[in-house]
Amino acid sequence: MTPEEVAASQTELAPLHAELGLPAPTLPERVQEDFAAQFQAVLKVRPAAFSFAFGRLGADRVAALRGAGILCIGTATSHLEASALARNGVDAVVLQGGAAGGHRGGWAHDDLTELLFLIRSVLLDANLPVIAAGGLMDAADVRAALNAGASLVQCGTAFLRATEAGTSAPYRAALAAAEPGQTVLTCAFSGRLARGLANRVTAEVASPLPYPLQNALTRDLRAAAARAGRAEFLSLWAGEGHARGREGTAAELLRILWPEETE
Ligand SMILES: Cc1cc2nc3c(=O)[nH]c(=O)nc-3n(C[C@H](O)[C@H](O)[C@H](O)COP(=O)(O)O)c2cc1C
Repeated sequence: MTPEEVAASQTELAPLHAELGLPAPTLPERVQEDFAAQFQAVLKVRPAAFSFAFGRLGADRVAALRGAGILCIGTATSHLEASALARNGVDAVVLQGGAAGGHRGGWAHDDLTELLFLIRSVLLDANLPVIAAGGLMDAADVRAALNAGASLVQCGTAFLRATEAGTSAPYRAALAAAEPGQTVLTCAFSGRLARGLANRVTAEVASPLPYPLQNALTRDLRAAAARAGRAEFLSLWAGEGHARGREGTAAELLRILWPEETE
């Protein structure tokens, strides 16, 4: 990363900062946590499962997890990535279809494949339990993913407006007001591709730094926007199914998603 590229990103964000009464953004000395230290903490705490995104773990780390009796779950957005994770020795894989909200969890090849197609193609030659993610908004969607061969499903967008969710008030209001088809894929907030509702940041930030630099550079903007209730500057992560999302308690939303025992 050249100083000129950093300066260009700072210049691009400066007017948005000014609107929130903030000085132009600067990069902190430390832009991300120490992964090796975090990994040691996981081994010490020994959770039942450890799931990860954005890459593979080294074989030694997979072996350390399994040796500690921790279920190891990777994330893939394509057949190629799922095969690499299978060779890596994970116990299961989250398959993230193209409709999913939030960050794309892959690292090598992502062509935003439709979820059911992705599940079927991975299960053709991988003998690995699959957790299906992306665009699952009701029981029929969940049933379709299970019928395609998934062992479990993962839902994000369906719970964004749950009473118990930490979704901020401006984020909730933006979700309630959004028309179908209002999501975009953007690197503007973090430097990594993610799906969310379009807003001024996704429209106006054209030259983000790579992850995790951009993530660090936009941290103050996001925090100030949350305090000020300004959704146009917030990361509004949401999947393509967002317009089918509902309000309600997590238990009520789970009932909408729960497939009947029989087909
Ligand atoms: C608001 C939000 C935050 C997310 N944060 C993460 C995260 O921190 N790590 C991760 O692996 N996936 C994250 N995801 C992606 C989900 O794990 C999952 O792949 C996705 O929500 C499934 O698609 P759906 O949103 O259409 O249900 C996030 C998704 C949303 C909507």
